[in-house]
Amino acid sequence: MDNALLLLSFFCFNLGLSWSLNTGSNQAVNSGGTPDPDKLEYHMGPVLASPLKLYIIWYGNWNQTHQDTIRDFLSSFSSPAPRPSVAEWWSTVRLYTDQTGSNVTDSITLSGEFFDTKLSHGPRLNRMLMQAIIKNAVTSQPKPLLLDPRNGYYLVLTSADVMVDEFCRAVCAYHYFTFPATVGVIVPYAWVGYSGTQCPGMCAYPFASPMGMSPPPSGEGGSTVMRPPNGDVGVDGMISVIAHELAESATDPLVNAWYAGNNPIAPGEIGDLCLGVYGSGGGGAYVGQVSKDAAGNDYNLNGIKGRKFMVQWVWDLVKKRCFGPNAKE
Ligand SMILES: *[C@@H]1O[C@H](CO)[C@@H](O)[C@H](O)[C@H]1NC(C)=O
Ligand SMILES: *[C@@H]1O[C@H](CO)[C@@H](O)[C@H](O)[C@H]1NC(C)=O
Repeated sequence: MDNALLLLSFFCFNLGLSWSLNTGSNQAVNSGGTPDPDKLEYHMGPVLASPLKLYIIWYGNWNQTHQDTIRDFLSSFSSPAPRPSVAEWWSTVRLYTDQTGSNVTDSITLSGEFFDTKLSHGPRLNRMLMQAIIKNAVTSQPKPLLLDPRNGYYLVLTSADVMVDEFCRAVCAYHYFTFPATVGVIVPYAWVGYSGTQCPGMCAYPFASPMGMSPPPSGEGGSTVMRPPNGDVGVDGMISVIAHELAESATDPLVNAWYAGNNPIAPGEIGDLCLGVYGSGGGGAYVGQVSKDAAGNDYNLNGIKGRKFMVQWVWDLVKKRCFGPNAKE
């Protein structure tokens, strides 16, 4: 494949598998136009049915408090917590099966971390370099991250001081899979950037006002930016983006399983179909009914260690609508 084609296909996925802000409304929507949920179809590819082992690559200079929030969130997928819980949220993702009838796994374990604090590929990244960063982490001596082609899922998280091409302009994150020629095997991965300083209004919705627009309404008539349940707009915003990418990877890891639409430039995956919806009644510019903790922070899910998180809903295959465990009906 020549470079131009490779770049083109990267660019296409960039547009499709991402969040973005439609400048015509004050709500985060799919950058490729809103896909039609009725067209959500299975395209015969695999889903992530085997137990998932998550490996985090912390790229850049990370705040330990922020790291702890993200670790606790990732450890909440397969752990009990008060209703509505992160694990219950994942049960909507589990409704998706592959052609053998296997459901998406319910076993998600945080299994390893790699600290790329010296910025192995510099402070300015592009899409090509994400795979190189994974390659570096799994070959780094003396303590490489395990390269696990059977169960591994690699999460490259870039810190506030790292620039990523398209970040904050077209995307907040994306998921894809590694190429054997680069990493040695095909494994699913996602990149998510910390948006707290670079573009909270775009990638940490609804905890910041969309850039140049009025804040998202909090309820009937009210109009106020939501308060992040873990005290940081950037990290609390990232949590929902990570969940979005994990759900889409699980149901469409090779971009040939569950998505809506025939336009390969803008496949609508199960998170894309529900951008900006966090509770009952959500849609348009309204996030929907969510809860407040004792300190007045907003959340819709409970996690381990008493943590609270705000995570967007995903498309429910059975109910045929966006759904989450905090639904009122
Ligand atoms: C597996 O998927 C099928 C089809 O959507 C669904 O009916 C079933 O409840 C799912 N199983 C689990 C354990 O979620
Ligand atoms: C890390 O983040 C927390 C919470 O956002 C903040 O209070 C703290 O000052 C940060 N620490 C450093 C070293 O920046």
